[in-house]
Amino acid sequence: MPIASVAERVVETRDPAATRALAGRLAKAAAPGDLVALIGELGAGKTQFAKGFGAGLGVTATINSPSFVLMAEYRGRLPLFHLDLYRLGETEEALGGGLLDDRQAEGVTVVEWAERLGPALPDDRLEVLIEGSGDEPRRIAVRASGPRSGRYLEALGEPAG
Ligand SMILES: Nc1ncnc2c1ncn2[C@@H]1O[C@H](COP(=O)(O)OP(=O)(O)OP(=O)(O)O)[C@@H](O)[C@H]1O
Ligand SMILES: [Mg+2]
Repeated sequence: MPIASVAERVVETRDPAATRALAGRLAKAAAPGDLVALIGELGAGKTQFAKGFGAGLGVTATINSPSFVLMAEYRGRLPLFHLDLYRLGETEEALGGGLLDDRQAEGVTVVEWAERLGPALPDDRLEVLIEGSGDEPRRIAVRASGPRSGRYLEALGEPAG
């Protein structure tokens, strides 16, 4: 079956642990140079996803939102670069691309508020769109935009049912 046949999967998670578990499964597919774009409103669960993704990469340190820096680096099976661009003001958005540099080629980069990178986002990226807030279940759409990110959908296996 052609790998490219699946470009999106939608998963519903009922609690933060389920969101972290989904991210952990996806992380098994991570390869050097990948970028995972997390998109969702305040409190959607982007950081929960990043925590689970890190756990799946074997990161043992606690992953929190980087408060005073735009990027934090963690050691795992691959280096994990966690960016949170919430504080990147609208007028500075063009500068966001400068946060992506050669170092990230060796690891996997997970970006909260990734839409703020605009055209600096690589064409082939895994997009994770999280909808829902509060105690509601989250609808998480995992979308691959090329062969590199397509591996993540393969890692999820066949849809249930
Ligand atoms: N199914 C779920 N998945 C993820 N988080 C959930 C879920 N249900 C409830 N929550 C709660 O929603 C909150 C998500 O917070 P989190 O910090 O991950 O959001 P965020 O998208 O990173 O927000 P911010 O934009 O402020 O960085 C947590 O308090 C978590 O416990
Ligand atoms: Mg966050």
